[in-house]
Amino acid sequence: VVLAAVGVGCFGLAGGGGTSAVLADVHPAGARVPLGLPPIEAPPAAAAELGRALFFDRRLSVNKTLSCAMCHLPDQAFTANELRTSVGMAGTSLRRNAPSLLNVAYLPRLFVDGRAASLERQALEPLIHPDELANRDHEVVAARLGTVPEYRRLFGRAFGSAQPTPARIASALAAYQRTLLAGDSPFDRWRYGGDPAAFDERERRGFEAFERHGCSGCHLVGERSALFTDHGFHNTGVQARSTALLGADLRVQLAPGMATTIAAAELLRFGSADRDDLGRHEVTGRAADLRAFRTPSLRNVALTAPYMHDGSLATLGAVVDHYIGGGSVADPAQDPRIRPLAIDRDERDEIVAFLQALTSDRLPQ
Ligand code: HEC
Ligand code: HEC
Repeated sequence: VVLAAVGVGCFGLAGGGGTSAVLADVHPAGARVPLGLPPIEAPPAAAAELGRALFFDRRLSVNKTLSCAMCHLPDQAFTANELRTSVGMAGTSLRRNAPSLLNVAYLPRLFVDGRAASLERQALEPLIHPDELANRDHEVVAARLGTVPEYRRLFGRAFGSAQPTPARIASALAAYQRTLLAGDSPFDRWRYGGDPAAFDERERRGFEAFERHGCSGCHLVGERSALFTDHGFHNTGVQARSTALLGADLRVQLAPGMATTIAAAELLRFGSADRDDLGRHEVTGRAADLRAFRTPSLRNVALTAPYMHDGSLATLGAVVDHYIGGGSVADPAQDPRIRPLAIDRDERDEIVAFLQALTSDRLPQ
């Protein structure tokens, strides 16, 4: 009951929020990419426009209650700040945090374990995942959309045929998401735009510390552009710490001044988010991939709390503290580059200031 109530709160917020702001601004074909991002081809405009309509449409779910945008909220950088892990169909908690969709156009593998090789393949999964849009199969979605005259028109414009098909739905959703580019942060104007005033002294020292302490060994920064990821999978000790906390009771805030405790055993009945997660290993079966997760981009990271694949760290300060403490030294599978760091309080705050300066001025809505 409690978890379902949390879910309703989420839906109310998503449903009331963004829809009017949302209808602006599809990255136009031929437009230059924002400063600091690598060149990329713009997707076909008609497919992106159709994809945008689909992304916000609850009719994509089995009972017309859930849309992509309700877990990836446009006014929260296409993630969900209130939720550690997503809440899906009928209030079920998912195991993982919803990643931001900003700049997903650049990702060679999707999902934090890299199990989808393209945005097109990725889009098919939530449509039929029983805890997400929960359709029986993709054909029923195509058939449902085929009864809507407006969609027949949009499919016709995008694909030269008014008939929705699973492949066209996936292709349109992918095209829309490829328009969600966000660069041009203070960091970009300083490093790639030649504007020394864009970055203050603390942010600059934070960036130097970021490089000196090896952060940029995984969160790559290039000469002409930066995505802050090596597209690789690493065990940074996050899951080992979360696993150690499994089985604890959960304290839930129902309203200001009103809280309750749910016993661990009870939690499992609601589909708790607290399940073990072996990360990339679940895809490859390789021992080297145990509890390894994809290196996320750090662009706009100030807007995408909570952090890590399971949302287990609430603030950027907590993330930096995780690294300073050396992750989970007890996990033998942890990447050897994650080890205790000699970083004092000032330097920690400078790194946080640098991370906050990765926020784009203009975000796609
Ligand atoms: C119930 C909440 C929920 C819904 C609905 C949902 N997602 Fe997600 N999405 C997630 C979560 C959680 C993840 C991370 C799962 C993982 O990595 O295993 C994710 C991952 C993704 C990713 C991968 C991003 C990356 O960085 O690799 C994309 C792209 C995406 N979703 C797009 C969509 C689209 C398109 C839809 C609608 C068809 C959708 N999502 C519906 C919760 C949701
Ligand atoms: C060995 C590679 C590696 C190194 C070194 C590394 N990171 Fe990470 N970073 C990752 C991975 C992998 C994740 C995601 C872990 C997860 O989801 O469980 C991550 C997550 C993050 C996040 C959270 C992003 C989000 O959206 O959730 C931040 C912030 C971050 N790292 C900053 C840093 C800083 C600062 C340093 C240096 C002190 C650093 N990283 C060093 C690989 C690395």
